[in-house]
Formats: sequence, C-alpha cells, structure tokens
Amino acid sequence: MPRHTLLFLFALVASAAQRGAVDALIVDGLQVGFYSQTCPEAEGAIRNIVNNEIGMDRSIAPGLIRLFFHDCFITGCDASILLDESPVGDVPEKESSANGFTLVGLSTIDTVKSALEAMCPHTVSCADILAFAARDAAVAAGLPSYDVVAGRRDGVRSNMDDLPGNFPVPGHHVPRLTKLFGQRGLSQEDLVLLSGAHSIGGAHCFMFSNRIYGFSEDAEVDPSLDPEYAASLRQVCPPRNPNDDPQLAAKVKFDAQTGEKLDNAYYSELLARRGLLTSDNALIEDPQTRAMVEAFAGDDAMWQQKFAGAMQKVGMLDVLIGEGKGQVRQQCRLVNGQEQQQRPPFPRSRQRRPRWSFPRHHPVADLINGFFRGFH
Ligand code: HEM
Repeated sequence: MPRHTLLFLFALVASAAQRGAVDALIVDGLQVGFYSQTCPEAEGAIRNIVNNEIGMDRSIAPGLIRLFFHDCFITGCDASILLDESPVGDVPEKESSANGFTLVGLSTIDTVKSALEAMCPHTVSCADILAFAARDAAVAAGLPSYDVVAGRRDGVRSNMDDLPGNFPVPGHHVPRLTKLFGQRGLSQEDLVLLSGAHSIGGAHCFMFSNRIYGFSEDAEVDPSLDPEYAASLRQVCPPRNPNDDPQLAAKVKFDAQTGEKLDNAYYSELLARRGLLTSDNALIEDPQTRAMVEAFAGDDAMWQQKFAGAMQKVGMLDVLIGEGKGQVRQQCRLVNGQEQQQRPPFPRSRQRRPRWSFPRHHPVADLINGFFRGFH
C-alpha cells in the first residue's frame, strides 16, 4: 500500500478514535483495492471508459467531479444523486434546483455501470463508481493520481428536500459556507481546497447574473468584480428575463485562462477579482480564507496534493458499509426491484419539457431566484 494511503488511513483511525467507534468501522470497511478479488478489472475499466468519454467531450470531466461532490455532501456518498425515482415517492435530489439539468456526466456513469454489470454482476456499487470516476476525471484534467478507497454501498432513498438549508449555493459567503462544510465534517481549508474544482467547467449565466445586472441600488455591477471581466461577462450573458428558458442560458468557464486544466489558476483568478460566483469571490474577502487562497495560488503542487486529500475526505462522508447496509444497485438510476416507471429516464426535459420551464412563481423558480438574491 503506498505510503500516503497508509498516512491517510492512519489519520482516519486517529480521528475515528477521537470521534467514536462508528468511524472506526468506516476505516475497517473501506479500502484501497476493495475489488481486487471480486472484480479485479473494475478500476481499469472505469478509467478507460471515463477517459474515452472525456476524449469525446471535455465537459464530462468537471461534470463527474461535481456529481461526486453533490452526491457525498447530501446524505453521504450513497449514489442518491443518481436515482431517477425514490421508492417512497419523494422527488429525488437530482431534481433539486442545485442539480437538475445542470448535472453533467450521468450518462457516463450509466455506461460504466453497464460495462461493470457485464463484467462482474451485482458487485461494484454506484457510489464507488462515482468516487473512481471523479478521481479519473480529475486525473484526466491534470491532477496527479490518488488512491480511492472503496466498499461503499448504494442508498435506497433520495429526496430533494434534503438540500435546502444544507447545500451551498452561489450567493453564500464564507461564514455560511464554513458552517455548511463544518456540518459535514469538512474544514474551512477543505472548503477553499475543494472550491478549486472550479478551476475547470463553468456556470450558467443565471448563477451569477445578479452580479452583472442590477447588483444594488448604488451599483449596476458588483464592485468586487474586475470591471473588464464584468464587461466580458455582460457580453456573453444578456440581462435576465423571467421568461427565459434556463436550459438555453449560456455557460461561462470559471477559469478563462486554463479552464480545462485542474490547476491552481483558479486562485490567481480570484485574487485578480475574476471569481465567477459570489461564493468564489467570497474566499478572498474573508481574511482567513484569503490567506489560504494566496498560499494555493503560489504553489500548484501543494494545492494539487491537498486537493486530492480533500477529495478522499469527501469520499468518506456517511458511507454505507457492509452487507446489512444499503445495496449494490443493478442500475444506478433505480433501487433494485423498483420498476422503471413509464416516465423516460432523467434528464426528461430533452424528451418532454416541463419541470424545468420554471413558471415565475413556481417554488423551484423561487429557489433559483434565491441564488440571485444571494441568500438561502
Ligand atoms: C463552495 C460552494 C460551492 C458552490 C456554491 C458551488 C456552486 C456551483 C455552481 C452554481 C456551479 C455552476 C453549475 C452550472 O451552472 O451548470 C458549479 C459548477 C461546478 N462545481 Fe461547484 N460549487 C461549490 C463547491 C464545489 C465543490 C466543493 C466542488 C468539487 C469538489 C465543485 C465542483 C464543481 C465543478 C467541477 C463545476 C463545473 C461543472 C460543469 O461545468 O459541468 N463545486 N458549482
């Protein structure tokens, strides 16, 4: 076992000893090479498929990293983000406004799962696939490889109501972000490290249009934005019209310089007042997080190594371990035994419109509008 994996597990054991026996089980249950006996080709197959898909479409790399984070942050790494239906009838996490049509990479996970079911039926969980795929996506985007422990089992429920109040949104500032991350056992440093994932991928205009149009009574544009950058954003993103279809909104890269490379350029962009979301820019406004931003901006190798460690930590959040917990889903979109409903698989919007047409006083529209008002 590589030395840094041993150190990582040692740190987990130490923290488990501090926090109680439940965490110790986590250390016992999850391991590097979990499938070495039951499906030895699994990790390689996942890597090949992910690389192949990213080779065809670069946007899949950020999508997979985001899927993993969104899964683990809410109810732990249980692949609940992938469920199209919840057996008890809840509207699944996938349909929350923080997810919805902005999720990218779902079909890659389906492709991986089909391949693994053909190779080793009922063996590799969707939660583990997400963790491996996120790592492989990060590596494809330039991060040095890191070990991923496995043995997570898949959950059997998913409810979009678990997000409001528990999930970060673009309008949040550091105190709120720190609190939300803290509730999940993640430190303020983890917040700053992991936000560096915004070194790749991008955001739809409606996620930040409050910063470039009608920002406040005194300022049309958020004064914390570099004016040239704000002007370039206004060129790509027209003023919001409540009747606009959010799905047709343009998407802007977080990092205009090296937007396909997972590197520390994100932090230099922040310091140059070119952070796209309020929550990105917030990291330079708080003195504590600003010091971290400055340190990460100055040392790519250090940031990459610590980012990998933070991703490993995310992958340990509230995992289901052992035969008695959860299940290994046969399809990532459905709990085992659950009939595929008559509805087409998510995202449904491409086949038939609807949930995402956002009538003006629809609760989902209100939630999205909450982003613009910068609270929630
Ligand atoms: C700190 C609080 C965070 C907030 C408020 C936030 C919010 C957002 C938003 C609004 C988008 C744009 C989605 C879209 O318009 O399609 C986005 C994209 C993204 N986020 Fe975050 N995020 C946060 C933290 C994270 C973390 C911790 C990770 C991963 C470790 C992450 C990974 C990503 C990636 C890779 C994208 C680009 C996705 C794509 O282009 O498809 N984010 N985030």
